[in-house]
Amino acid sequence: MKMGVLGSGIVAQGLSARLAELGHNVVIGTRDSEKLRGWQSSNQKVLIGSFAETAAHGAIVINATNGAGSLSALTIAGEENLADKILIDVSNPLDFSNGFPPSLTVFGNDSLAEQIQRAFPMTKVVKTLNTVTARVMTHPLEVANGDHHVFVSANDPDAKAQVIELLRTFGWLHIFDLGDLSTARGAEAYVMLWVRLYGTLNTSMVNIKVIK
Ligand SMILES: NC(=O)c1ccc[n+]([C@@H]2O[C@H](COP(=O)([O-])OP(=O)(O)OC[C@H]3O[C@@H](n4cnc5c(N)ncnc54)[C@H](OP(=O)(O)O)[C@@H]3O)[C@@H](O)[C@H]2O)c1
Repeated sequence: MKMGVLGSGIVAQGLSARLAELGHNVVIGTRDSEKLRGWQSSNQKVLIGSFAETAAHGAIVINATNGAGSLSALTIAGEENLADKILIDVSNPLDFSNGFPPSLTVFGNDSLAEQIQRAFPMTKVVKTLNTVTARVMTHPLEVANGDHHVFVSANDPDAKAQVIELLRTFGWLHIFDLGDLSTARGAEAYVMLWVRLYGTLNTSMVNIKVIK
C-alpha cells in the first residue's frame, strides 16, 4: 500500500522503515529533506517528500510530527491531499517549554486528535500508538513478548478496522478499541503517567496491560 509518513524524527523514521520492510511503498515527509539524507542512505526503499507530496502519495497518511506543530504541518500537507483518507495520528500534545516532565498543550474536554479531526473534517483520524515509545510502536514483541496493549480511537469504524489490521502486521497482539475519537483524551493524557514510568524505570521499553 502507498503510505505517507509526515515527520522526520525518530517516530517517523521507525514507522517508515518498518512499513517499507513490510512491503509498503513509503514516502517520508519533512520541510527540510537534508535532515533525512543520512538516514535515507541506509533506508533506500523510503523516498523523501515535502509534507504535501507525502500526504498526496499516501493512501494512508501518518501524522508523526511534533504535537505543538501538527496542525501547522497538516495544513502545509494540504486539506485536499488528506481528504477521504485515513490519518493515523501518533502525536502527543506535549509542551517541553519548562523542561522535563512536559505538560499537555490540550487536555480535559478536548484532545489534539479531535482538534485535527475538526480542522480536517474530510479526513478519517485514527489515534493510536502515541502511548508507547517509537521502537515499541513497530516492534511490540520486544516488550514482554507482546503481552501488553495498544489503544485505538476513531469515529469511523472502517478506518479503525483497517488501522487495527495494520497494527497486527507490526506484531501487536492486544489492541484495545477505546471507542470514538473523544477517547483519545485519555490516551493522550496517559502520556503524563508514561513519562513518570520512564523516569522511574530508566527505560522507554515499557508499556501497560489492561486486565479486569
Ligand atoms: N519519540 C517517541 O518515542 C514518541 C512516542 C510516542 C509518541 N510520540 C509523538 O510522535 C511525534 C513525533 O515524535 P518525534 O520524537 O519523532 O519527533 P518530534 O521532534 O516531536 O517532531 C519532529 C517533526 O515535527 C515537525 N514539526 C515540528 N514543529 C513543526 C511546526 N511548527 N510546523 C510543522 N512541522 C513541525 C518537524 O518537521 P520538519 O521535519 O520539517 O523539521 C518534524 O518532522 C510527536 O508528536 C511525539 O509526541 C513520540
